[in-house]
Amino acid sequence: MIDTHSHLNHSDFADDLRETLARADAAGVHNMVIVGYDLSSSHDAIMLSQTYPGLYATVGLHPHSAAEFTADVLQAMRAQAAEHKVVAVGETGLDFYRDLAPRDRQVEAFRALTGLAAELGLPLVVHNRNAHEETLEVLREEAPAEMTVIMHCFSGDQDFAEECRKRDYYLGFTGSVTYPKSEELREVARVYPRRRLLLETDCPWLPPQSHRGRRNESAYLGEIAETIAQVRGEPLIRVQQQTTENARRAFGLGGEEQ
Ligand code: NI
Repeated sequence: MIDTHSHLNHSDFADDLRETLARADAAGVHNMVIVGYDLSSSHDAIMLSQTYPGLYATVGLHPHSAAEFTADVLQAMRAQAAEHKVVAVGETGLDFYRDLAPRDRQVEAFRALTGLAAELGLPLVVHNRNAHEETLEVLREEAPAEMTVIMHCFSGDQDFAEECRKRDYYLGFTGSVTYPKSEELREVARVYPRRRLLLETDCPWLPPQSHRGRRNESAYLGEIAETIAQVRGEPLIRVQQQTTENARRAFGLGGEEQ
């Protein structure tokens, strides 16, 4: 399996990164996309991906940090995105739930990074919380039709999922799909097209139900696959294989690197 959204570049993993990678490997999670959320974490993601086989990097600025966005940051990210093993731009997007950066700055950074992905022909990893309409509006205006768009940690209802389906977006499912109260999310996972489903931990955050209250890590990815297999009434192995194939297609990963 491939963890398509992992923050092993976060300081929570500084002391036991090797052990964390070994546990993931033992759990059948052989590849991870390490997602950048500002300039320095994007740099760290690139360094990790160039150090360890099986890891890939993205370059992005989280909406919480959108106040840091400047033309210089964009220029630096353009250079980072050209590095070996960078496979996407993001995460970027809008978070109108926690509102940790002014909304107009979030929109400005999101527009610019979507433009960068378009310029470089890279997939876009989108963070959206309580900003469905505004997110779709930016994508409608800035993302070319052929761009691969990944709605990371999908959190919408059926109507929003339907809008995403019409645009052929990938949906990333985290441990939140395993939570007892997430019936609506499981319904989306049940009916969404199989070729557009992705597994992601978003670790160190959002541990699946059996690990709640602790640090999340890529080794726990399988629990998300189990929940999706259950709700779709499909064999676990089929969900594992399909989501792995989807991740390779979405991020353009080679099949050779384990
Ligand atoms: Ni994330």
